Order: sequence, then C-alpha cells, then structure tokens
Amino acid sequence: MARIKCIGILTSGGDAPAMNAAIRAVTRTAIYNGFTVKGIMRGYRGLISGEFIDMKTQTVSNIIQHGGTILKTARSAEFKTPEGRAIAYENMRKEGIDALVVIGGDGSLSGARIFAEEFDIPIVGLPGTIDNDLYGTDTTIGYDTALNTIMECVDKLRDTASSHERLFFVEVMGRNAGFLALNGAIATGSEAAIIPEIATEVDQLGELIANGFRKSKNSSIVLVAESPLTGGAMAMAERVKKEFPQFDSRVTILGHIQRGGSPTASDRILASRMGEAAVNALLEGQRNVMVGIENDVIKLVPFIQAIRKNKTVDRALLNTVKILSI
Ligand code: F6P
Repeated sequence: MARIKCIGILTSGGDAPAMNAAIRAVTRTAIYNGFTVKGIMRGYRGLISGEFIDMKTQTVSNIIQHGGTILKTARSAEFKTPEGRAIAYENMRKEGIDALVVIGGDGSLSGARIFAEEFDIPIVGLPGTIDNDLYGTDTTIGYDTALNTIMECVDKLRDTASSHERLFFVEVMGRNAGFLALNGAIATGSEAAIIPEIATEVDQLGELIANGFRKSKNSSIVLVAESPLTGGAMAMAERVKKEFPQFDSRVTILGHIQRGGSPTASDRILASRMGEAAVNALLEGQRNVMVGIENDVIKLVPFIQAIRKNKTVDRALLNTVKILSI
C-alpha cells in the first residue's frame, strides 16, 4: 500500500453543529503528523466539480465555536451514479489526494463505502448528524447541541402552553429515529414522546389520551419525531381535533433551527477526539471504517455496520417519560 501523503476532508449531507470542530481536529492532527490537507467544498458535489482548498493550521483558527461547516455541504445526486464517482476519483487523483475523511450521516457514509470499495481508496468516516442514528457510537457529532436547542425551545413553549392550558405537539427532527424526541422529552419534562420505532406496534396518541395523561396537568407537551411513520405533529393535531375535541391543541415544528447554533462542550470534545482518531486510523492503515465512541472509548466500526446495523432507542426511556410526568 502506497504511503498516504495528502488527506482530503469533506462534510456532506445535513450540516450538524461541531462539524467545524471535527474539520479543525482532522486538519491539525494531519499537519502535526506531516500530511498535507485539502478541503473539498460542498461535499461530494465539490469532489465532482473540482472545488479544492489548501488547509493550513490557520484555515481552521477560530472555528471550533461556530455551527455549520466552513467547507459547506450538499446532497449530491450525481455521486450516487458510477459516472459521477468516476469523475470524483479522477479529480481526487489530479489533486494528489490519496485518502479521505468524510464527515456526515448515513447517506454520506454509504457513499463513502461504495467509493472506497470501487477505487480502493482509504476512507475514514466521522458520524456527523443531529439524528444520532449511526450504529457503533453512543452519540453523533451535533446530537447534543440539537438536544439542547430543543430543550431551550420547549422551555419557552411551556410558558405559553401553561398560561393557555393547551396541548402542544412539538415536531422534532430525526429522520425516522426517535433519539431527539425521546431524550428531548426527558430533558424538558414533556408529557410524552411519539417515536417512529414503535409506531407500527402501538397507537401512541390513542394510548396517551386513554390513560388520562392530562388529569393532574394544566398544560401538556408531546414531542413528536418527524417521520412518515408517526405522521408528524400536524397529523397528531388533526386527529385530536377530530377524536378529542375537548383539547385546545397547537403545533410547533422546530425544523432547521435544530441544526444551527454554537456547539455544546460535549459536541466540541466529541468532534475533536473523533477528528484526531480519524487521522490516527489512517496512520495505522485503517480504511472503510467510521470512528465511534462507546463508553468513552474510541472504536473503529466498519462502514457497513455503522450504516446497516440498526441503532436502537432505549425503549425503557418511554416509561421514564411516563413516570416522570404523572
Ligand atoms: O439528517 C439530518 C436532518 O436534519 C434530518 O433530521 C432531517 O430529516 C433532514 O436532515 C432534513 O434535510 P434537509 O436539510 O435536506 O431538508
């Protein structure tokens, strides 16, 4: 195997707070170890259109505290085609990049896996997504910050919910995963979380209302994970209007606000440790793996497992929400 000289780094898919902290950690660890580093703008799209920048230690100064990604991001349909990936590979070779660090969610790491196999390129991934839906790591980069944003917003909603004695359905992100809804509900003392993981097993709304969840309350907040399986907050409110008209309900969709903001200390530390570990993994000759941290220990997880092995929510937490909201 030829020695790696130049590492390319990109962020892809939905941005997540602390992606910048990860870019900084990868860049500085790589330079410390004698590599040159190239930034690829706009994820795989920039790899295809040939948008490269030289990364120096100063390029990543004063970015650890900022949300978003200095490298920009995109979702590239072209990279999903063999033709698109062939152009990306050609550009990479021309630029002298011989290994990649990809920061992104499941779609981005799926792309990395195919690309690495097709062209025999050393690629290491970092789990960058607020959804927390990648297997092999306790949390993903950006998840904690998004959870804190949800907490701040729901705390504000509680003031008005309680003043008007209303039932609020608050839709949070997660793309078919209930981590944000479930832990967001615990952090805000919400009355319930409606999550996609059990949507086909239980009528979560029906059960909630049948159990008389508002008996001792003058306001209620229910966090609903966005997903076709839950139908989202609007669908919940529609149902309430028809089936339980005694409730005065309102809907708030938190949306992309959850993806922004200065990263929390936890996310900055996670991203910094993972970024350093990604370069160390390349130094050790690792490839086709995602860096994870489980029980505070760095792990390298084959892409295929990170993407395909379902990371399960802890269903016992649903009971925690229920008990703590009596
Ligand atoms: O994967 C991150 C995420 O924010 C999901 O929670 C959400 O479903 C999706 O991205 C939204 O994507 P977009 O920014 O392309 O609308």
